[in-house]
Amino acid sequence: MAVHEILKMGDPRLLRIAEPVTAFDTDELHLLVADMFDTMRVADGAGLAAPQIGVDLQLVIFGTDEINPRYPDAPLIPRTVLLNPVITPLGDEVENGWEGCLSVPGLRGVVPRFAKIRYTGVDLYGDPIDRTVEGFHARVVQHECDHLIGMLYPMRVQDFTQFGYTEVLFPGLDAGQDD
Ligand code: NI
Repeated sequence: MAVHEILKMGDPRLLRIAEPVTAFDTDELHLLVADMFDTMRVADGAGLAAPQIGVDLQLVIFGTDEINPRYPDAPLIPRTVLLNPVITPLGDEVENGWEGCLSVPGLRGVVPRFAKIRYTGVDLYGDPIDRTVEGFHARVVQHECDHLIGMLYPMRVQDFTQFGYTEVLFPGLDAGQDD
């Protein structure tokens, strides 16, 4: 297992449309996912998409079995490996919420997301995942899956008065932490 370098905004590899995963439960895939969890844990991320470590595959991980210090008030999202995801918005309701991204360190912005979604896909073994979620869980999934279509959250910011440096916006937050 290994911690990988996380690509930062400006790297063209973050702008690609990721390829679907076609082989499941392989040693290669298990190793990749283990490395991604290591990388996410070290960075205190809420989620991580394969393109963020330069791997051009439709693979995202998110969730944790413990409280994330970057999002101490957020409800727990189950630890999930999601491949080849498809998101379907349920209803028109859109919520604004603060987001950060490990590929955009030191910044936060308010991003509109669908309040309630259904997401489908498969897990590491190729077994189906089908969940209906809302709130923070829905936001995290939409953020991570955006990475698979070359979208970074600043591209979705609508009000740039609500986009800035974490240490300025949220001085109470652990200053040593990066996004
Ligand atoms: Ni991100």
